[in-house]
Amino acid sequence: MNTTTETILDTEFKKDVYAGLTAFPKYLFSKYIYDKKGDKLFQDIMDLEEYYLTNSEFEIFTENKKAICELFRGNGHGFDLIELGAGDGKKTKVLLRHLDEDGFDFIYKPIDISENAINRLRDDLAKELPNVPVHPEKGEYFEVLERLHLYKVRKKVIMVLGSNIGNLLHPRAIDFLAHLRDTMNSEDLIFMGFDQKKEPQTILDAYNDPHGVTETFNKNLLERINKEMGGNFDLDKFKHWEVYDPESGTAKSYLIAKEAMSVRIDAIDLSVQFDPWETIHTEISQKYDYKIVEWLAEESGLEIVTSFVDSRNYFKDYVFRRK
Ligand code: TRP
Repeated sequence: MNTTTETILDTEFKKDVYAGLTAFPKYLFSKYIYDKKGDKLFQDIMDLEEYYLTNSEFEIFTENKKAICELFRGNGHGFDLIELGAGDGKKTKVLLRHLDEDGFDFIYKPIDISENAINRLRDDLAKELPNVPVHPEKGEYFEVLERLHLYKVRKKVIMVLGSNIGNLLHPRAIDFLAHLRDTMNSEDLIFMGFDQKKEPQTILDAYNDPHGVTETFNKNLLERINKEMGGNFDLDKFKHWEVYDPESGTAKSYLIAKEAMSVRIDAIDLSVQFDPWETIHTEISQKYDYKIVEWLAEESGLEIVTSFVDSRNYFKDYVFRRK
């Protein structure tokens, strides 16, 4: 990379796009899907029958809210509930409502990479649950770890729901969990969702829905590059593709070039050549079983306190504490 290129790459997004599209094989990070349109499309995904994750975890929350909230109760001083990747908070609201009604002493701190999502959540909660103190923040997982050290005056519960942890391959997940552990005192808890290994077709359908919502969602990455960096990706010349490896439990999303083409991205002064059927890898979504979760906990210095599962055994929420 020469110096002119370095000065052009003045944001993380530009740097990452440049690195990903000049790499072989090509890749782009899925976190960049989430602008205003991407947030809306992800909400549409969560509303799909095929995307079982949200319904399963919603069921877990509805069925177990009392037990879950009791686990959160601090010994006399209340607690801080910190949620990483809060999104629209649909599932968390079930708990917040219960905590509010039962007069728990707590604050809710939702953190999300999307400024838009976090602002909407703040406004929603101000209307729906005006008594709950909400301290929202924009940020990324690894970035907010430092700030978590500040929450040590009273008990804290760190929540990571949905398929958020699944976006990290095992070594990074362990790194992340170990960092979370380092911010925890003995009574602090992690409450974390793990999508379970299941009938592979069910997983493929969730990540490649017949309505094409997931396809539009994945392609929003290219659309953002077009809009924000003066790119000229022709979205119709790309195809969303999903694979699931039942052995490793890894689901991977791709955008595949249907024909040879050259794409120009003005803002980063880049021309990218695509061969026919060349791939851009955009996302991993890891699926788990109890052995993998036990191993992850062990490797990160954590101990499983308990877990909650839905009626179809599709999804599990685990509670960890420091070992
Ligand atoms: N990471 C989320 C998940 O694994 C969101 C997601 C759903 C996603 N479908 C996708 C990300 C397709 C990229 C491509 O559930």
